[in-house]
Amino acid sequence: MRIEILTTIPEMIDAVTGESILGRAKSRGLIEINAVNLRDFAHDRHRTTDDAPFGGGPGMVMKPEPVFEAVESLVFRSAGTKPRVLLMTPQGRRFNQKFAEELARESHVIIICGRYEGVDERIRERLATDEVSIGDYVLTGGELAALVIADAVSRLIPGVLGDETSCETDSFSSGLLEYPQYTRPADYRGMEVPEVLLSGNHAEIAKWRREMALKRTFERRPDLLDTAPLTEEDKRIINELNNEK
Ligand code: ADE
Repeated sequence: MRIEILTTIPEMIDAVTGESILGRAKSRGLIEINAVNLRDFAHDRHRTTDDAPFGGGPGMVMKPEPVFEAVESLVFRSAGTKPRVLLMTPQGRRFNQKFAEELARESHVIIICGRYEGVDERIRERLATDEVSIGDYVLTGGELAALVIADAVSRLIPGVLGDETSCETDSFSSGLLEYPQYTRPADYRGMEVPEVLLSGNHAEIAKWRREMALKRTFERRPDLLDTAPLTEEDKRIINELNNEK
């Protein structure tokens, strides 16, 4: 899978994607994440990528030419396959785990980072296949949002998390929040690890974890219970939690 992030600040992308799990995944060839400098597609010697808005008003707007030409050059190299072209904007579709899973099935994703007051509307209309928001708040630019997408998608690519780790028990993948985790020591300042986890009884441990995941979801995100796949036993536990309330 290839993710290309179009930005005027490629250093910001490289700094994050060169480290830790993403850095390792890149160097092992499991995923390609490239920053593409929009200034390389500017037309003047100052490498300008923004301009004042028609009609007046504060701030600057991202010019269409560098963005169109950058995307076209990447699509051209994509040899026939149609990449997804995401425009990062607080006005977009809200990003979530399901959206990450959808993107992880693509072979080529291009992400356009907005800066300044906004982007020229023709980019939104003609170039983007999706407009994406990572939440209801406004960032100074799309770079951090693009990195959130690249990170969440990369870890779903087989091999990226390594053989030991699985993303299948993640919060949200099961439709539920995660059960609590503990490590040594078994007693830290009088705070003891639940007995069952020390028992070595794998069936009991699995049962306890499922119950805890259901309880946590019930308490914090009851909305998730409407869509999570639940067994009859799960439903019985939720009924009990409801009765306790
Ligand atoms: N650019 C600025 N704020 C953003 C947000 N919340 N999500 C995506 N892109 C953005």
